[in-house]
Amino acid sequence: MLLKICLLLFSVTTIATKDAASETVGPIFIFGDSILDVGTNNYVKNCKAQVNRPYYGVDYPHSIATGRFSNGLNPADTIVALLGGYEESPPPFLALLAHSSNLTRDLLHGVNFASGGAALVKGIGKQVLGDVISLEEQIQQFATVQGNITTLLGESKGQLLIQGSMYIICVGSNDIMNYVFTHPTTLEVFIANITAIYAIHLKNLYDLGARKFGLMSIPPIGCCPIARAFSGGECAKELNDVVSAFYTPLESLLKNLSSTLEGFKYSLGNSYNMSMSVIENPPPGFKDVKTACCGNNPLAGIDDCKAQRYLCPKRDDHLFWDAFHPSEAASKLAARVLVFGEDPDFVTPINFSTLRKA
Ligand SMILES: *[C@@H]1O[C@H](CO)[C@@H](O)[C@H](O)[C@H]1NC(C)=O
Ligand SMILES: *[C@@H]1O[C@H](CO)[C@@H](O)[C@H](O)[C@H]1NC(C)=O
Ligand SMILES: *[C@@H]1O[C@H](CO)[C@@H](O)[C@H](O)[C@H]1NC(C)=O
Ligand SMILES: *[C@@H]1O[C@H](CO)[C@@H](O)[C@H](O)[C@H]1NC(C)=O
Ligand SMILES: *[C@@H]1O[C@H](CO)[C@@H](O)[C@H](O)[C@H]1NC(C)=O
Ligand SMILES: *[C@@H]1O[C@H](CO)[C@@H](O)[C@H](O)[C@H]1NC(C)=O
Repeated sequence: MLLKICLLLFSVTTIATKDAASETVGPIFIFGDSILDVGTNNYVKNCKAQVNRPYYGVDYPHSIATGRFSNGLNPADTIVALLGGYEESPPPFLALLAHSSNLTRDLLHGVNFASGGAALVKGIGKQVLGDVISLEEQIQQFATVQGNITTLLGESKGQLLIQGSMYIICVGSNDIMNYVFTHPTTLEVFIANITAIYAIHLKNLYDLGARKFGLMSIPPIGCCPIARAFSGGECAKELNDVVSAFYTPLESLLKNLSSTLEGFKYSLGNSYNMSMSVIENPPPGFKDVKTACCGNNPLAGIDDCKAQRYLCPKRDDHLFWDAFHPSEAASKLAARVLVFGEDPDFVTPINFSTLRKA
């Protein structure tokens, strides 16, 4: 596994340059939770999942805290940059609304709807995180954008653009954390429920014209620093077991949708396998795959990464930036695997770059 990732690391640069110059395809739209949020929550009132403060963004250009849950770029940025046509993620929908003079032009370049704390089930985690934009609301926002695009380009050109676009989604961690903390039902019922809800969201996007779905499965949240802190330094088994239990149903849902909905195409990244392989066999450059770079104290929570707290000197050698989220270096590694990977243990049935051109 280590060897595969290393080969990928070294072979990727040449491919990336070739790929970036490839034919024009539609823009990219991004949905989900804090893994992909590039500042949405800065615009949400009564939201406690906001990170627009140092040390967040310490490695972003000019050390700006943009609202990304990262020291620099996050996977939304690193994935679109490798897909080509982007330097970083398209801006948050709510930022475009707030500066609406450029909205018309910007919509055609893609939009990021992801919101830290968002879940498949609306309202999950509200007591802890306050208001966030749930996946359901993100898709409603996309419906507005879809309407704006067809108004702008006309029905048929607009629909072609929407169908040629790529839809990147990473969501579900917050549903699983909520399940493990509250156990409202059996694991079987819970998995069936979130699978059914995921299906409804994907079908709604499909009905709006989306065709190319690039999904990231849920990462092993039981191995994030905060979960380890509560499990004597080991990965929290129940969290990881629930994450694992959801992978096969999600894959089978995508297979079903692609055989029943005309034109539905997908690529599924196995975030669990990707992270576990890095944790078990850290690739060159990664020295710490267990602790948080920022706010690194044994029981660090998300509030613990802030100015004057601990900040590790070498961000690039940490897998985790804070108690929950990957570092920029980890996000770059994940993007290479998703976009250019060939191993079905990590991305299946095609990789993101193949999906983009499909
Ligand atoms: C609008 O776009 C211009 C040119 O890209 C940019 O300089 C300006 O900051 C944008 N305005 C807003 C409010 O986003
Ligand atoms: C987009 O559509 C919404 C809802 O129809 C409308 O209120 C808004 O003005 C439109 N914005 C642009 C830039 O076309
Ligand atoms: C999922 O469970 C929630 C309650 O936890 C329920 O309200 C909802 O109807 C269920 N949805 C599906 C699609 O099973
Ligand atoms: C996929 O389709 C098969 C056959 O129709 C069905 O048994 C299975 O429950 C479906 N799985 C999901 C996750 O929709
Ligand atoms: C990757 O995922 C598949 C499917 O869940 C699993 O069978 C396999 O063992 C995993 N491989 C690794 C290296 O984690
Ligand atoms: C991506 O997948 C395609 C086929 O699925 C494969 O040919 C290609 O080598 C993979 N990697 C890149 C960099 O395109």
